[in-house]
Amino acid sequence: MSNTEPLLDVTGLTKHFPVKGGFPIRRTVGAVQAVDGLDFQVAQGESLGLVGESGCGKSTTGRLITRLLEPTGGTISYQGKDITHASRKQLAPIRSEIQMIFQDPYASLNPRQTVGKIISGPMEINDIDPAGGREKRVRELLEIVGLNPEHFNRFPHEFSGGQRQRIGVARALALEPKLIVADEPVSALDVSIQAQVVNLLQKVQEELGIAFVFIAHDLAIVRHFSQRVAVMYLGKIVEIADRDDLYGNPRHPYTRALLSAVPEATVDDTPRERIRLTGDVPSPINPPSGCRFRTRCWKATEKCATEAPPLVQVEGNKPGHLTACHYPETGNSAPADRLDKTPRAAA
Ligand SMILES: Nc1ncnc2c1ncn2[C@@H]1O[C@H](COP(=O)(O)OP(=O)(O)O)[C@@H](O)[C@H]1O
Ligand code: SF4
Ligand SMILES: [Mg+2]
Repeated sequence: MSNTEPLLDVTGLTKHFPVKGGFPIRRTVGAVQAVDGLDFQVAQGESLGLVGESGCGKSTTGRLITRLLEPTGGTISYQGKDITHASRKQLAPIRSEIQMIFQDPYASLNPRQTVGKIISGPMEINDIDPAGGREKRVRELLEIVGLNPEHFNRFPHEFSGGQRQRIGVARALALEPKLIVADEPVSALDVSIQAQVVNLLQKVQEELGIAFVFIAHDLAIVRHFSQRVAVMYLGKIVEIADRDDLYGNPRHPYTRALLSAVPEATVDDTPRERIRLTGDVPSPINPPSGCRFRTRCWKATEKCATEAPPLVQVEGNKPGHLTACHYPETGNSAPADRLDKTPRAAA
């Protein structure tokens, strides 16, 4: 693998879940367009943040990359190898290199297994015998994630939420992965301990050189963690850029609205007020024509209803900064009736 080749290369990635209906014969009557044509790359050791409101297709994307789900269309290449439809057997050699950390540390750990068993499980399945034995490796891993190495005989219920997520991290690290997909790894945790777990993941990323796809529903959490950020809306990437370009020069109205909710964000002339997103995310079974964001966008025109804006480097963007909007923002354009009067600073 050459140095310029991305670790992960996703093109046109699509997942449509069939919707069944009809009586007496149940047949496919539609599709949930959960993920609809994503293009992105992840470099070795890089952290890509994936953000967007609930239901926009983030988890589905994570499950497609880790091949827990079968894509409907598009391609997934890992280290230059097409793994889009690879069989279990074909995937075996790289299974260990791509790991997933789940949102809910309570549900994702087997309550009847000791921590040692949980962490060594992936080693057993993959027939990996580390030098010094699996138990020694489990202790090392517990130490890396900031847990007491002597606690390998305890059960998940004996740990707090934050500690359980550390166990999940240790399990993901057991096979020395090159890529970790972390699906909202701190959303279920108390705000007070979210930062600790994010710091742990950051340490892991930097010291072990592991690439991350870090999924979050808001831009605050990925801010310090991801070098690059992709914003998703209704199954599509609407904007993707290096962190500083995205936070400093958001061009998509949706990105701007999400950023207005981040207390510490200082964006050119973004008002201190929060931009209110009216209405809910439309159903992915019947998404709006043209630009999918148009039903909630204050700038939508006839063109937005008929033409889907391509994800491109619009004028004024730095290379690598792509935006899918016919009328990219150059400053804040949200009208007064979209702004919440409570200043962000007071939040
Ligand atoms: N197995 C499934 N069958 C049908 N629809 C699904 C399935 N999984 C997810 N969806 C739908 O796909 C859309 C995207 O879901 P998801 O990827 O979980 O979004 P997010 O993680 O951003 O909240 C949602 O509308 C969800 O209801
Ligand atoms: S393309 Fe139109 S509707 Fe979509 S975000 Fe841009 S201005 Fe709004
Ligand atoms: Mg999700």
